Amino acid sequence: MKETLSELRILAEKKFSKSGEMFFPSRSSVEQATPEAISHYRAQRLNGYVAVDLCCGIGMDVIALAKNCKKVFAVEIDKNILECAKKNAKAYGADNIEFINSNCFGIGLKSLNVDIAFADPSRRTAQGRRVSALEETEPDAKKLILFLTKSGIKNSCIEVSRELSPKEIPFDCEREYVSLGGELNCASLYFGRFKKCERSAVVLPSGERIESNSLQPNPLGECASPKKFLFELDEGIVRAELQSELLEKLGPDISIFSKNFFTSDSMVGSAFFKNSFEVLKEVKEKDLVKELQILGAGKVVLRGAFDPKLQALAKKEIELQLSGGRKLHVFNLKNRLFICSIFNKMPP
Ligand SMILES: C[S@@+](CC[C@H](N)C(=O)[O-])C[C@H]1O[C@@H](n2cnc3c(N)ncnc32)[C@H](O)[C@@H]1O
Repeated sequence: MKETLSELRILAEKKFSKSGEMFFPSRSSVEQATPEAISHYRAQRLNGYVAVDLCCGIGMDVIALAKNCKKVFAVEIDKNILECAKKNAKAYGADNIEFINSNCFGIGLKSLNVDIAFADPSRRTAQGRRVSALEETEPDAKKLILFLTKSGIKNSCIEVSRELSPKEIPFDCEREYVSLGGELNCASLYFGRFKKCERSAVVLPSGERIESNSLQPNPLGECASPKKFLFELDEGIVRAELQSELLEKLGPDISIFSKNFFTSDSMVGSAFFKNSFEVLKEVKEKDLVKELQILGAGKVVLRGAFDPKLQALAKKEIELQLSGGRKLHVFNLKNRLFICSIFNKMPP
């Protein structure tokens, strides 16, 4: 069923500060648009004189770019979507955008005299299936990069699927993974003078950043057992394979337990930790329910290498045998079971 504009505006509330004044042609355009926190962060990296957004959608990136550039061209193949972008630019007070309804490959890019380019190609097929390969996006990200090179535009940024690993991106660019509110949101490729390193991870809203000048990740050097605390890494760090760079920043009290978890005997805080856990006990599978009962569990979260179907069944079965008030996490890590309690705020 097609949503009304008011329903779409409510859906968009979390992403955009002016959602109540914005226009959306469809639910998918809301979902595909860049959250304001990310478009603002990215636009700050993309300062230029005249910019072009080659597939502007409902306009969130181009509106942010317009704040940092003298003039911006916004290109969009779909007329209805472009009309919404125009109205959204008005809502945000951006009056230095020239809108062009065209296939991006058909515009005379050289004649626009732009010095920087941006593109956020669609990573969904017309049927709504998500795609991640560079050549599967619409427009094709590889063709976009070639098109910019041929047009003589050296300084650019292209958003690609966050599912891609750095090695799947065979270009001379920075591969930046951006998380927002604890969830990996996007990957951006920065070319030319915007490239600061080979791989980076950023967490928003704090803006903390980790980077590496090498495309080859350092060996992880995992420790055999978890210590008193486990720290679940932000997915951007994992995807960008920046664990050893983060470890170096955090100092000697902490070690790598696995590609997703750091461990320490003391509490350590970092914007790059998605969740922090206290390891209560390692258990054998046969003793799991008994130990959960002793620890006062009523609800469990099963994490790690569990089969997702079995996981749902096992969770139900386990919880039927529990009557406590605590919610505990059971991790299956490296074929060992650990009962943990979560704490996301550092105790005083
Ligand atoms: C992911 S959306 C862009 C969202 C936008 N960055 C935002 O935050 O609002 C991708 C857009 O590319 C447009 N598009 C697809 N192929 C295109 C092409 N060849 N030329 C121009 N636009 C195209 C789609 O219609 C879609 O609106």
